[in-house]
Amino acid sequence: MSGLTIALTKGRILQETLPLLARAGLTPAEDIQASRKLEFATNVNDVRLLVLRGADVTTYVRHGVADLGIAGKDMLLEHGSDGLYELLDLEISRCRLMTAAPKGQPPKKAGERVSVASKFTNIARRHYADMGMNADIIALYGALELAPNVGLSDEIVDIVDTGNTLRANGLETRELIAHVSSRLIANKAALKMKYAQIKSLEDRLREAVQG
Ligand code: PRP
Repeated sequence: MSGLTIALTKGRILQETLPLLARAGLTPAEDIQASRKLEFATNVNDVRLLVLRGADVTTYVRHGVADLGIAGKDMLLEHGSDGLYELLDLEISRCRLMTAAPKGQPPKKAGERVSVASKFTNIARRHYADMGMNADIIALYGALELAPNVGLSDEIVDIVDTGNTLRANGLETRELIAHVSSRLIANKAALKMKYAQIKSLEDRLREAVQG
C-alpha cells in the first residue's frame, strides 16, 4: 500500500506531538482533539494519522498496519522492539519510570519477597529480578497509587512526572528504572520499502525537535 500511516498516542503525548508534527509540515485535516474519529487525513495527500492508546501503537507498527508510530519509551520497554526501529527521540512527554512505596516504609532487601502493582508488568518483573528480589507482580490498568494504601501491594512501578500523584497518596519514589520520552518508531519492512518518504519525515521531525 502506498502512502504513509502514522500511529499516534492519544492523551498527553498527543498534545505535544501535534505541534511537533506541524513544525515538520504535517497537520491533520480536522481538529483531532475535538473529534471522536480515530483515523485522520492530513494536509499531505498520502499521509494519514491513527489515534490510539499508547499500549497499542507498537502493535500497529509491528504488524505493519502503521508504517510509523509515536510511542513513549515506556511502551517500547514494556512491549519490546521486535520488528521495529527506534528512529528518533522526540524529546517530548519526558518523565521517569520509577518504583514507589508508602512514605517511610522500610525498603525490601535482596532475597526478600515483595508484591508490586503495575501496568508495566514486564518492566517490573525484569527490574525486581535484576535487584535479586522475589517479586509478585500484580497487573493493574490505572490508579496504581491506591494499591499500597489498601494493602494490595508493597510497592508500585509507575510513571512519575511532577510527583504530585505520589505525594497526594502518601507515597515516595524509590528506584529509578528509566528516563522516558516519546520516540518515532518505524516498521522494519516499511522503512526499507518507503525509505525516501520515511527518511524525509524523520529529517523534518529531527529539525523540528532541534529547532
Ligand atoms: C500517569 C501516571 C501517574 C501520573 C504521574 O497517569 O500513571 O498516575 O501520571 O504524574 P505526576 O507525577 O505528574 O503526578 P496518567 O494521568 O497519564 O493516567 P493513566 O493512569 O491513565 O496513565
